Amino acid sequence: MKSLYELAVLLILSVAQQCVQSYSSSYKYIMADFKRCQREKPDVVLWVQGRLLDQQRRAVIRELLANKRAWPKDIRVTTFFAVGMCNSRKAHVSLQYEFEVFKDILQNDYHEHYENQTAKMISAITFIADYCSHSKLAIRIDDDVLFHPATMIRKVMGMMTKKSKNTYDEAEDYHSQRRYELSSNRISRLYKSLASLPSNRFTNPNTILCHILSNRTIIRPDMNRPYPVKYSVLVTESIYPDFCAGFFIAISMDVMIKLRELFAVEPPFWIDDSYLGVLQKRIKTVNVNANKFLLFDAPENNLRNAISAGTNMDAIAIHLTQGPAYYSQLAKANVYKELRYDYQ
Ligand SMILES: *[C@@H]1O[C@H](CO)[C@@H](O)[C@H](O)[C@H]1NC(C)=O
Ligand SMILES: *[C@@H]1O[C@H](CO)[C@@H](O)[C@H](O)[C@H]1NC(C)=O
Repeated sequence: MKSLYELAVLLILSVAQQCVQSYSSSYKYIMADFKRCQREKPDVVLWVQGRLLDQQRRAVIRELLANKRAWPKDIRVTTFFAVGMCNSRKAHVSLQYEFEVFKDILQNDYHEHYENQTAKMISAITFIADYCSHSKLAIRIDDDVLFHPATMIRKVMGMMTKKSKNTYDEAEDYHSQRRYELSSNRISRLYKSLASLPSNRFTNPNTILCHILSNRTIIRPDMNRPYPVKYSVLVTESIYPDFCAGFFIAISMDVMIKLRELFAVEPPFWIDDSYLGVLQKRIKTVNVNANKFLLFDAPENNLRNAISAGTNMDAIAIHLTQGPAYYSQLAKANVYKELRYDYQ
């Protein structure tokens, strides 16, 4: 017989166990087409961080957002759906079938759960950095996001190739005659900024575009509020560094490669977009604020604007909260017809 004290200790230990959700810096592959980027040579890799069991949404995304015919002819896109493991054998078989048909499923060995979004993000970034590193841009979306591909990518490229003042002023400084006045410290900084001159028409290096969230309190277990993180996460901080709302994040490929290296160094924690913010701060990415163009809970009118071509666009992408039924219903809606046939 265990004493009451022992039972209490066991109880506390088991509760503590549940809170100690730790993440690995890499996850084994279950299903992936490692040659896909080599074959398709995409400029843009779209990765969808969606629900494993929502086949219907993947069908809609393939048809509308990932559809190569809806993208400008001179921009190649490849899409992956990052998913975790399912317990159901039937679901697994059906996923395998989907993989055979579309080759766009990326499955790693973490359990599918909303608390495992960080594992999903780590797996997707690692895969893209390792197997699609010749692409220019990676775009992460949730599976409840809509955009008009051509409008979206034009606007994203425009904003991500804008001159960033600090970088360029310094780089131009370097070319001027004043080089000899510079301290070695400053020279090394200038070399860094020279290395970040634009290298392609898609994006400047070291750049992320998203809806930026600032000044967000770090929720601790004793605050009795949603999304708590352990005290060991960002121990001395009370506010998260600026981070991107996860529903749409465009990332230059050099950043993807740096992120992939950082997973082993910067301990992952369970809120994926806040964790990404910590990494962004560490790399000192240029964060392009697209808050005005990345909309939450867009009403139907915005939706029409966002996806209908040719009008004065006021959105890059919109995030819907109406749920799966609404999302798939949209596939049949008239507003999509023009999208579908625009670029054929
Ligand atoms: C996350 O995935 C890991 C690895 O499969 C698993 O041990 C853990 O239970 C998962 N977390 C949740 C909350 O399901
Ligand atoms: C964040 O909070 C500080 C202090 O309350 C305030 O001064 C600052 O303007 C805020 N920043 C943003 C981006 O809202």
